[in-house]
Amino acid sequence: MSISEIAKHISPSATLKLNETAAILRAKGEPVIHLGGGEPKSKPPIDALVAAGGMLQSGEIRYTPPDGVPSLKKAIIRYTEEFYDRMVEPGNVMASSGAKQSLMCILQAILNPQEEVIFPAPYWVSYPEMVKLVGAIPVPVTPEDGTFHPRLHDIEKKVTSYTKAVIINSPNNPSGVMYSKEFIAEIVEFCEKRGIYLLLDDIYHRLVFGDAKPINAWEFAKDKTENSKLVIINGVSKQYAMTGFRIGWAVANKELIRVATDIQSHQTSGPSALLQHAATAALSGLQSCVESLRLTLENNSRIMVQKLKAFDGIHITPPNGTFYCFPDFSVYGKDSVKVSKFLLDKVLVVTVPGVEFGMEGFLRLSTCGAIKDITEGIERMKWALDPNSPDELYIGELKLVRDWA
Ligand SMILES: Cc1ncc(COP(=O)(O)O)c(C=O)c1O
Repeated sequence: MSISEIAKHISPSATLKLNETAAILRAKGEPVIHLGGGEPKSKPPIDALVAAGGMLQSGEIRYTPPDGVPSLKKAIIRYTEEFYDRMVEPGNVMASSGAKQSLMCILQAILNPQEEVIFPAPYWVSYPEMVKLVGAIPVPVTPEDGTFHPRLHDIEKKVTSYTKAVIINSPNNPSGVMYSKEFIAEIVEFCEKRGIYLLLDDIYHRLVFGDAKPINAWEFAKDKTENSKLVIINGVSKQYAMTGFRIGWAVANKELIRVATDIQSHQTSGPSALLQHAATAALSGLQSCVESLRLTLENNSRIMVQKLKAFDGIHITPPNGTFYCFPDFSVYGKDSVKVSKFLLDKVLVVTVPGVEFGMEGFLRLSTCGAIKDITEGIERMKWALDPNSPDELYIGELKLVRDWA
Protein backbone atom coordinates (compact mmCIF):
# COMPACT_ATOMS: atom_id res chain seq x y z
CA MET A 1 0.00 0.00 0.00
CA SER A 2 1.22 3.47 -0.76
CA ILE A 3 1.02 5.81 2.21
CA SER A 4 2.57 9.20 2.85
CA GLU A 5 6.04 9.70 4.30
CA ILE A 6 4.47 11.55 7.24
CA ALA A 7 1.96 8.76 7.96
CA LYS A 8 4.73 6.16 7.86
CA HIS A 9 6.35 7.78 10.87
CA ILE A 10 3.28 8.18 13.07
CA SER A 11 2.87 5.72 15.95
CA PRO A 12 -0.52 4.87 17.42
CA SER A 13 -1.35 6.47 20.78
CA ALA A 14 0.12 4.01 23.29
CA THR A 15 -2.31 5.07 25.98
CA LEU A 16 -5.42 4.69 23.79
CA LYS A 17 -4.15 1.31 22.64
CA LEU A 18 -3.79 0.16 26.24
CA ASN A 19 -7.36 1.27 26.98
CA GLU A 20 -8.41 -0.99 24.15
CA THR A 21 -6.34 -3.91 25.47
CA ALA A 22 -7.84 -3.50 28.96
CA ALA A 23 -11.38 -3.35 27.52
CA ILE A 24 -10.82 -6.54 25.49
CA LEU A 25 -9.47 -8.40 28.54
CA ARG A 26 -12.38 -7.18 30.68
CA ALA A 27 -14.89 -8.25 28.05
CA LYS A 28 -13.35 -11.73 28.23
CA GLY A 29 -14.01 -11.71 31.98
CA GLU A 30 -10.33 -11.38 32.97
CA PRO A 31 -9.79 -9.65 36.35
CA VAL A 32 -7.66 -6.92 34.83
CA ILE A 33 -6.62 -3.81 36.79
CA HIS A 34 -6.14 -0.78 34.59
CA LEU A 35 -3.45 1.49 36.01
CA GLY A 36 -2.79 2.90 32.56
CA GLY A 37 -5.83 5.15 32.14
CA GLY A 38 -5.97 8.90 31.87
CA GLU A 39 -9.55 9.71 32.80
CA PRO A 40 -11.28 10.27 36.12
CA LYS A 41 -13.94 7.82 37.16
CA SER A 42 -16.20 10.48 38.73
CA LYS A 43 -19.37 11.59 36.95
CA PRO A 44 -19.39 14.79 34.88
CA PRO A 45 -21.01 17.78 36.65
CA ILE A 46 -24.78 17.51 36.93
CA ASP A 47 -25.13 20.93 35.24
CA ALA A 48 -23.46 19.49 32.14
CA LEU A 49 -25.65 16.40 32.08
CA VAL A 50 -28.88 18.35 32.54
CA ALA A 51 -27.92 20.86 29.85
CA ALA A 52 -27.01 18.13 27.38
CA GLY A 53 -30.18 16.19 28.17
CA GLY A 54 -32.35 19.27 27.59
CA MET A 55 -30.72 20.04 24.28
CA LEU A 56 -30.96 16.47 23.11
CA GLN A 57 -34.68 16.46 23.84
CA SER A 58 -35.16 19.66 21.88
CA GLY A 59 -33.63 18.06 18.82
CA GLU A 60 -32.07 21.44 17.93
CA ILE A 61 -28.59 20.14 17.29
CA ARG A 62 -27.06 21.78 14.24
CA TYR A 63 -23.74 22.87 12.82
CA THR A 64 -21.91 25.40 14.98
CA PRO A 65 -19.48 28.22 14.08
CA PRO A 66 -15.99 26.78 13.40
CA ASP A 67 -14.54 28.51 16.49
CA GLY A 68 -17.36 27.46 18.84
CA VAL A 69 -20.74 28.79 19.93
CA PRO A 70 -20.85 32.27 21.52
CA SER A 71 -22.09 30.98 24.90
CA LEU A 72 -19.14 28.59 25.27
CA LYS A 73 -16.69 31.26 24.13
CA LYS A 74 -18.16 33.62 26.71
CA ALA A 75 -17.64 30.96 29.41
CA ILE A 76 -14.04 30.45 28.24
CA ILE A 77 -13.46 34.23 28.33
CA ARG A 78 -14.70 34.30 31.94
CA TYR A 79 -12.48 31.30 32.77
CA THR A 80 -9.48 33.06 31.23
CA GLU A 81 -10.15 36.19 33.27
CA GLU A 82 -10.54 34.18 36.47
CA PHE A 83 -7.54 31.87 36.14
CA TYR A 84 -5.17 33.92 33.99
CA ASP A 85 -6.18 37.49 34.65
CA ARG A 86 -6.06 37.82 30.86
CA MET A 87 -8.76 40.00 29.31
CA VAL A 88 -9.70 38.49 25.99
CA GLU A 89 -12.42 38.86 23.39
CA PRO A 90 -14.29 36.23 21.35
CA GLY A 91 -11.69 36.66 18.59
CA ASN A 92 -9.01 35.34 20.95
CA VAL A 93 -10.79 32.04 21.61
CA MET A 94 -11.27 28.87 19.60
CA ALA A 95 -13.22 25.90 20.99
CA SER A 96 -12.33 22.49 19.56
CA SER A 97 -13.12 18.81 19.84
CA GLY A 98 -10.79 18.37 22.79
CA ALA A 99 -7.61 20.17 23.78
CA LYS A 100 -5.90 17.76 21.41
CA GLN A 101 -7.54 19.33 18.38
CA SER A 102 -6.86 22.87 19.58
CA LEU A 103 -3.20 21.99 19.97
CA MET A 104 -3.10 20.33 16.56
CA CYS A 105 -4.72 23.32 14.80
CA ILE A 106 -2.33 25.74 16.51
CA LEU A 107 0.66 23.62 15.43
CA GLN A 108 -0.66 23.52 11.87
CA ALA A 109 -1.12 27.27 11.99
CA ILE A 110 2.43 28.10 13.07
CA LEU A 111 4.78 25.40 11.76
CA ASN A 112 6.54 24.97 8.45
CA PRO A 113 8.11 21.64 7.50
CA GLN A 114 11.48 21.11 9.23
CA GLU A 115 10.83 23.71 11.91
CA GLU A 116 11.37 22.52 15.46
CA VAL A 117 9.24 22.30 18.58
CA ILE A 118 10.88 21.86 21.98
CA PHE A 119 9.22 20.20 24.96
CA PRO A 120 10.63 18.80 28.21
CA ALA A 121 10.78 15.04 28.80
CA PRO A 122 8.96 13.19 30.14
CA TYR A 123 6.24 14.46 27.80
CA TRP A 124 2.69 13.60 26.82
CA VAL A 125 2.77 10.83 24.18
CA SER A 126 0.99 12.92 21.56
CA TYR A 127 3.43 15.87 21.35
CA PRO A 128 6.05 14.19 19.12
CA GLU A 129 3.44 12.66 16.83
CA MET A 130 1.46 15.91 16.51
CA VAL A 131 4.60 17.81 15.58
CA LYS A 132 5.54 15.12 13.05
CA LEU A 133 2.04 15.25 11.55
CA VAL A 134 2.79 18.80 10.46
CA GLY A 135 6.11 17.75 8.93
CA ALA A 136 8.00 19.52 11.69
CA ILE A 137 10.58 18.10 14.09
CA PRO A 138 9.97 17.27 17.75
CA VAL A 139 12.86 18.16 20.07
CA PRO A 140 12.45 16.62 23.52
CA VAL A 141 14.71 17.93 26.29
CA THR A 142 15.62 15.58 29.11
CA PRO A 143 16.63 17.36 32.31
CA GLU A 144 20.31 16.60 32.78
CA ASP A 145 20.05 16.55 36.56
CA GLY A 146 17.85 13.42 36.46
CA THR A 147 14.78 15.20 37.90
CA PHE A 148 11.46 15.86 36.17
CA HIS A 149 12.04 19.60 36.45
CA PRO A 150 13.16 21.21 33.20
CA ARG A 151 15.80 23.90 33.40
CA LEU A 152 15.99 26.84 31.08
CA HIS A 153 19.66 26.11 30.60
CA ASP A 154 18.87 22.64 29.10
CA ILE A 155 16.17 24.08 26.84
CA GLU A 156 18.35 26.95 25.68
CA LYS A 157 20.97 24.46 24.45
CA LYS A 158 18.41 22.90 22.07
CA VAL A 159 17.25 26.16 20.51
CA THR A 160 18.28 26.63 16.88
CA SER A 161 17.27 29.01 14.13
CA TYR A 162 14.53 26.47 13.29
CA THR A 163 12.93 26.55 16.74
CA LYS A 164 9.40 27.82 16.36
CA ALA A 165 7.67 26.82 19.60
CA VAL A 166 8.05 25.42 23.10
CA ILE A 167 5.31 23.31 24.69
CA ILE A 168 5.03 23.27 28.46
CA ASN A 169 2.66 20.94 30.30
CA SER A 170 2.53 21.52 34.06
CA PRO A 171 1.45 19.74 36.15
CA ASN A 172 2.86 17.19 33.85
CA ASN A 173 1.58 14.04 32.22
CA PRO A 174 3.20 11.56 32.99
CA SER A 175 5.30 12.70 35.98
CA GLY A 176 2.61 14.54 37.96
CA VAL A 177 5.27 17.15 38.71
CA MET A 178 4.35 20.82 38.77
CA TYR A 179 7.08 23.05 37.41
CA SER A 180 8.24 25.89 39.63
CA LYS A 181 6.90 29.42 39.29
CA GLU A 182 10.49 30.53 38.70
CA PHE A 183 10.85 28.20 35.72
CA ILE A 184 7.52 29.32 34.22
CA ALA A 185 8.57 32.96 34.61
CA GLU A 186 11.93 32.19 32.97
CA ILE A 187 10.48 30.32 30.01
CA VAL A 188 7.91 33.06 29.37
CA GLU A 189 10.67 35.68 29.36
CA PHE A 190 12.95 33.51 27.21
CA CYS A 191 10.29 32.79 24.56
CA GLU A 192 9.28 36.45 24.44
CA LYS A 193 12.88 37.55 23.96
CA ARG A 194 13.49 35.00 21.20
CA GLY A 195 10.11 35.53 19.50
CA ILE A 196 9.21 31.84 20.00
CA TYR A 197 5.63 30.65 20.50
CA LEU A 198 4.98 29.31 23.99
CA LEU A 199 2.17 26.77 24.13
CA LEU A 200 0.98 26.14 27.68
CA ASP A 201 -0.93 22.90 27.92
CA ASP A 202 -2.80 23.61 31.14
CA ILE A 203 -5.22 20.70 30.95
CA TYR A 204 -4.39 19.63 34.56
CA HIS A 205 -3.76 23.09 36.02
CA ARG A 206 -6.48 22.96 38.70
CA LEU A 207 -5.74 19.36 39.70
CA VAL A 208 -2.85 20.24 42.02
CA PHE A 209 -2.29 19.02 45.56
CA GLY A 210 -1.80 20.55 48.99
CA ASP A 211 -1.45 24.31 49.08
CA ALA A 212 -0.42 24.53 45.42
CA LYS A 213 -2.41 26.87 43.20
CA PRO A 214 -2.54 26.83 39.39
CA ILE A 215 0.40 28.79 38.01
CA ASN A 216 -0.57 31.55 35.63
CA ALA A 217 2.10 32.02 32.95
CA TRP A 218 0.34 35.13 31.60
CA GLU A 219 1.24 36.89 34.84
CA PHE A 220 4.88 36.85 33.70
CA ALA A 221 4.27 38.05 30.14
CA LYS A 222 5.72 41.48 29.43
CA ASP A 223 3.95 41.69 26.10
CA LYS A 224 0.24 41.62 26.83
CA THR A 225 -0.75 42.91 23.41
CA GLU A 226 -2.08 41.19 20.30
CA ASN A 227 1.56 40.47 19.38
CA SER A 228 1.88 37.97 22.21
CA LYS A 229 2.93 34.48 21.17
CA LEU A 230 1.74 32.92 24.40
CA VAL A 231 -0.98 30.36 23.74
CA ILE A 232 -3.11 28.74 26.45
CA ILE A 233 -4.54 25.30 25.81
CA ASN A 234 -7.15 23.91 28.16
CA GLY A 235 -10.39 21.94 28.25
CA VAL A 236 -13.06 20.19 30.27
CA SER A 237 -11.79 16.60 29.83
CA LYS A 238 -9.74 16.22 32.97
CA GLN A 239 -10.87 18.79 35.53
CA TYR A 240 -14.60 18.15 34.97
CA ALA A 241 -14.24 14.41 34.24
CA MET A 242 -15.68 15.05 30.77
CA THR A 243 -13.19 13.14 28.62
CA GLY A 244 -15.85 11.74 26.29
CA PHE A 245 -17.42 15.15 25.70
CA ARG A 246 -14.38 16.17 23.66
CA ILE A 247 -14.34 19.90 24.33
CA GLY A 248 -11.14 21.90 24.67
CA TRP A 249 -9.95 25.33 23.65
CA ALA A 250 -7.10 27.62 22.71
CA VAL A 251 -6.65 31.24 23.78
CA ALA A 252 -4.15 33.25 21.76
CA ASN A 253 -3.72 36.43 19.73
CA LYS A 254 -6.56 37.07 17.27
CA GLU A 255 -4.53 36.50 14.12
CA LEU A 256 -3.39 33.07 15.26
CA ILE A 257 -6.91 32.11 16.37
CA ARG A 258 -8.29 33.23 13.00
CA VAL A 259 -5.82 31.03 11.12
CA ALA A 260 -6.30 28.04 13.46
CA THR A 261 -10.08 28.43 13.09
CA ASP A 262 -9.80 28.43 9.30
CA ILE A 263 -7.86 25.17 9.57
CA GLN A 264 -10.41 23.67 11.96
CA SER A 265 -13.26 24.79 9.69
CA HIS A 266 -11.95 22.48 6.95
CA GLN A 267 -11.08 19.59 9.23
CA THR A 268 -14.03 19.02 11.53
CA SER A 269 -16.02 22.32 11.52
CA GLY A 270 -17.07 23.55 14.96
CA PRO A 271 -17.32 20.98 17.76
CA SER A 272 -20.62 19.23 18.47
CA ALA A 273 -23.39 21.66 19.49
CA LEU A 274 -24.58 19.26 22.18
CA LEU A 275 -21.20 18.86 23.80
CA GLN A 276 -20.39 22.58 23.65
CA HIS A 277 -23.66 23.18 25.46
CA ALA A 278 -22.65 20.67 28.15
CA ALA A 279 -19.16 22.21 28.47
CA THR A 280 -20.68 25.70 28.82
CA ALA A 281 -22.84 24.43 31.67
CA ALA A 282 -19.84 22.79 33.36
CA LEU A 283 -17.79 25.99 33.17
CA SER A 284 -20.68 28.16 34.36
CA GLY A 285 -22.16 25.82 36.98
CA LEU A 286 -21.18 24.69 40.45
CA GLN A 287 -17.42 24.21 40.68
CA SER A 288 -17.43 21.91 43.72
CA CYS A 289 -16.96 18.89 41.41
CA VAL A 290 -13.47 20.09 40.49
CA GLU A 291 -12.48 20.44 44.14
CA SER A 292 -13.96 17.06 44.95
CA LEU A 293 -12.01 15.42 42.12
CA ARG A 294 -8.84 17.22 43.18
CA LEU A 295 -9.18 15.93 46.76
CA THR A 296 -9.88 12.38 45.57
CA LEU A 297 -6.83 12.42 43.33
CA GLU A 298 -4.67 13.82 46.10
CA ASN A 299 -5.74 11.02 48.42
CA ASN A 300 -5.28 8.35 45.74
CA SER A 301 -1.87 9.70 44.88
CA ARG A 302 -0.79 9.62 48.53
CA ILE A 303 -1.94 6.00 48.82
CA MET A 304 -0.13 5.03 45.62
CA VAL A 305 3.14 6.60 46.74
CA GLN A 306 2.80 4.85 50.11
CA LYS A 307 2.17 1.46 48.48
CA LEU A 308 5.06 1.92 46.04
CA LYS A 309 7.45 2.32 48.95
CA ALA A 310 7.11 -1.45 49.46
CA PHE A 311 9.27 -2.03 46.38
CA ASP A 312 13.01 -2.31 46.76
CA GLY A 313 15.10 -0.07 44.58
CA ILE A 314 12.48 1.90 42.69
CA HIS A 315 12.71 5.66 42.72
CA ILE A 316 9.47 7.61 43.24
CA THR A 317 8.95 11.33 42.69
CA PRO A 318 5.75 12.15 44.61
CA PRO A 319 3.32 13.86 42.21
CA ASN A 320 2.20 17.46 42.84
CA GLY A 321 -0.95 17.02 40.76
CA THR A 322 -2.67 15.19 37.85
CA PHE A 323 -3.71 11.51 37.88
CA TYR A 324 -0.29 10.03 37.36
CA CYS A 325 2.75 8.77 39.15
CA PHE A 326 5.94 7.97 37.21
CA PRO A 327 8.27 5.74 39.24
CA ASP A 328 11.61 4.52 37.96
CA PHE A 329 11.36 0.72 37.71
CA SER A 330 14.65 0.25 35.91
CA VAL A 331 15.92 -1.93 38.76
CA TYR A 332 13.43 -4.53 37.45
CA GLY A 333 14.40 -4.13 33.80
CA LYS A 334 15.76 -1.37 31.61
CA ASP A 335 13.18 -2.05 28.88
CA SER A 336 9.91 -0.51 30.10
CA VAL A 337 7.86 -2.14 27.32
CA LYS A 338 9.07 -5.54 28.49
CA VAL A 339 8.33 -4.78 32.16
CA SER A 340 4.89 -3.44 31.31
CA LYS A 341 4.10 -6.47 29.13
CA PHE A 342 5.34 -8.82 31.84
CA LEU A 343 2.97 -7.21 34.38
CA LEU A 344 0.03 -7.52 32.01
CA ASP A 345 0.82 -11.13 31.12
CA LYS A 346 1.56 -12.36 34.62
CA VAL A 347 -0.79 -10.40 36.89
CA LEU A 348 -3.20 -8.59 34.55
CA VAL A 349 -2.13 -5.09 35.55
CA VAL A 350 -2.06 -2.45 32.82
CA THR A 351 0.73 0.14 33.09
CA VAL A 352 2.18 2.45 30.44
CA PRO A 353 5.87 2.02 29.52
CA GLY A 354 7.95 5.10 30.25
CA VAL A 355 9.61 4.99 26.84
CA GLU A 356 6.33 6.26 25.35
CA PHE A 357 6.88 9.45 27.33
CA GLY A 358 10.54 9.72 26.41
CA MET A 359 11.97 8.08 29.54
CA GLU A 360 13.09 4.47 29.44
CA GLY A 361 12.95 2.38 32.62
CA PHE A 362 9.92 4.19 34.06
CA LEU A 363 6.26 3.14 34.23
CA ARG A 364 3.30 5.51 34.26
CA LEU A 365 0.73 4.48 36.84
CA SER A 366 -2.64 6.11 37.00
CA THR A 367 -4.32 7.19 40.22
CA CYS A 368 -7.74 7.92 38.79
CA GLY A 369 -9.25 4.51 39.54
CA ALA A 370 -10.71 3.16 42.78
CA ILE A 371 -8.42 2.89 45.82
CA LYS A 372 -9.02 -0.86 45.80
CA ASP A 373 -7.63 -1.05 42.26
CA ILE A 374 -4.60 1.05 43.17
CA THR A 375 -3.74 -1.03 46.23
CA GLU A 376 -4.45 -4.40 44.64
CA GLY A 377 -2.75 -3.42 41.39
CA ILE A 378 0.44 -2.48 43.19
CA GLU A 379 0.31 -5.60 45.37
CA ARG A 380 0.04 -7.74 42.24
CA MET A 381 2.94 -5.87 40.64
CA LYS A 382 5.06 -6.44 43.73
CA TRP A 383 4.21 -10.13 43.76
CA ALA A 384 5.23 -10.46 40.12
CA LEU A 385 8.44 -8.45 40.33
CA ASP A 386 9.83 -9.21 43.77
CA PRO A 387 11.89 -12.45 43.72
CA ASN A 388 11.12 -12.93 47.45
CA SER A 389 7.36 -13.15 46.85
CA PRO A 390 5.45 -16.27 47.89
CA ASP A 391 4.94 -18.85 45.13
CA GLU A 392 1.22 -18.37 44.82
CA LEU A 393 -1.21 -15.48 44.52
CA TYR A 394 -4.98 -15.66 44.46
CA ILE A 395 -7.04 -13.20 42.44
CA GLY A 396 -10.51 -14.18 43.59
CA GLU A 397 -10.82 -17.81 42.56
CA LEU A 398 -7.91 -17.53 40.14
CA LYS A 399 -4.70 -19.08 41.43
CA LEU A 400 -1.45 -17.71 39.97
CA VAL A 401 1.77 -19.64 40.40
CA ARG A 402 5.10 -17.91 40.28
CA ASP A 403 7.18 -19.95 37.86
CA TRP A 404 9.75 -17.27 37.02
CA ALA A 405 12.84 -16.10 38.86
C1 LIG B 1 -1.07 16.72 28.60
C2 LIG B 1 -2.35 16.49 27.87
N1 LIG B 1 -2.77 17.42 27.01
C3 LIG B 1 -3.90 17.27 26.31
C4 LIG B 1 -4.68 16.13 26.47
C5 LIG B 1 -5.91 15.97 25.62
O1 LIG B 1 -7.05 16.47 26.20
P1 LIG B 1 -8.46 16.36 25.45
O2 LIG B 1 -9.16 15.18 26.00
O3 LIG B 1 -9.15 17.65 25.81
O4 LIG B 1 -8.21 16.26 23.99
C6 LIG B 1 -4.28 15.13 27.35
C7 LIG B 1 -5.04 13.89 27.48
O5 LIG B 1 -4.58 12.85 27.92
C8 LIG B 1 -3.09 15.32 28.08
O6 LIG B 1 -2.66 14.42 28.98
